[in-house]
Amino acid sequence: MKALVKDRAEPGLRLMDVPEPAVGPGDVLIKVERTGICGTDLHIRAWDGWARRTISTPLVLGHEFVGVVVRTGPDVQDITPGDRVSGEGHLVCGKCRNCQAGRRHLCRATVGLGVGRDGAFAEYVVLPAANVWVHRVPVDLDVAAIFDPFGNAVHTALSFPLVGEDVLITGAGPIGLMAAAVARHAGARNVVITDISEERLELARKIGVSLALNVGTSTIADGQRQLGLREGFDIGLEMSGRPEAMRDMIANMTHGGRIAMLGLPAEEFAVDWSRIVTSMITVKGIYGREMFETWYAMSVLLEGGLDLAPVITGRYGYRDHEAAFEDAASGRGGKIILDWTD
Ligand SMILES: NC(=O)c1ccc[n+]([C@@H]2O[C@H](COP(=O)([O-])OP(=O)(O)OC[C@H]3O[C@@H](n4cnc5c(N)ncnc54)[C@H](O)[C@@H]3O)[C@@H](O)[C@H]2O)c1
Ligand SMILES: [Zn+2]
Ligand SMILES: [Zn+2]
Repeated sequence: MKALVKDRAEPGLRLMDVPEPAVGPGDVLIKVERTGICGTDLHIRAWDGWARRTISTPLVLGHEFVGVVVRTGPDVQDITPGDRVSGEGHLVCGKCRNCQAGRRHLCRATVGLGVGRDGAFAEYVVLPAANVWVHRVPVDLDVAAIFDPFGNAVHTALSFPLVGEDVLITGAGPIGLMAAAVARHAGARNVVITDISEERLELARKIGVSLALNVGTSTIADGQRQLGLREGFDIGLEMSGRPEAMRDMIANMTHGGRIAMLGLPAEEFAVDWSRIVTSMITVKGIYGREMFETWYAMSVLLEGGLDLAPVITGRYGYRDHEAAFEDAASGRGGKIILDWTD
């Protein structure tokens, strides 16, 4: 089968023929239809410091996908050939305290699909049945392909109750944009999103945020004034991974404000801890998706009319992977989709 492989310890990716993955007794074999390109894939392609420390070659990339089940192992129940599925890309150990207690998203020995084992940028992918999410109601294929990052957005946005609240999102990348759509849909009063890319702020406006603020030219405090907020934001969703964004967020929270932090900083940085203490701000780290509460939430939010269409800005056949990756790496658009069926 064709697959996009990091075959050597150097920058770049190669589309090559590799053997179809073996199907174990508890596994599901999936014919991949569409995949989403993630920041993680860009790091692996660029072969940066993180990738060099983390990845063993050869590796088939990719963890955001939708496809159709073609075969199941003898121990698999409730999943049948023909089912349209996406997959939870965090494979958990099943043995640690959190796994045993059913808190699988807190597993201490997670292996990532397309990071620690061969992934979904291929014609076929294999996953343990426990990681497979069956789409029981029809869903747009591009949206189904990005359930993984959509799940990051939902997990973060629904971490704290936000009905009627004023929500600040720093970073209008694909995940920040989806979080904005979720916060609006879930009943926030104001949703303010910040970025330094005008193109991405324009996408946020299409989603219908209260304010899309360019922090290259104005401050979050300016944004508060424009909206007539007097006491700061109730909920913060950090989705840029940038120190200056986190600092400015902390400075603009209300007393008792709550911050869910998904953005992954490249290194340690200082924040105003005395402000966190005296304003009694909660900061909660978010990793991945809750298995499978977040997946349930994603499906029903879409059924309830949540629209993610503005977030998807590029579609390519898998043979055009170079152009697709360049588009994703430009940081100007939203989510980029690779089609594996043509
Ligand atoms: N914790 C997790 O499980 C998890 C999973 C996926 C992604 N992530 C992280 O979440 C973040 C968002 O993911 P993404 O794919 O949308 O990333 P992205 O890099 O596409 O988006 C980040 C955005 O932040 C913007 N930005 C830069 N400086 C800023 C500033 N000072 N203020 C506001 N915005 C600023 C960038 O222009 C960009 O549009 C990344 O940091 C990513 O590494 C975490
Ligand atoms: Zn991803
Ligand atoms: Zn575990």
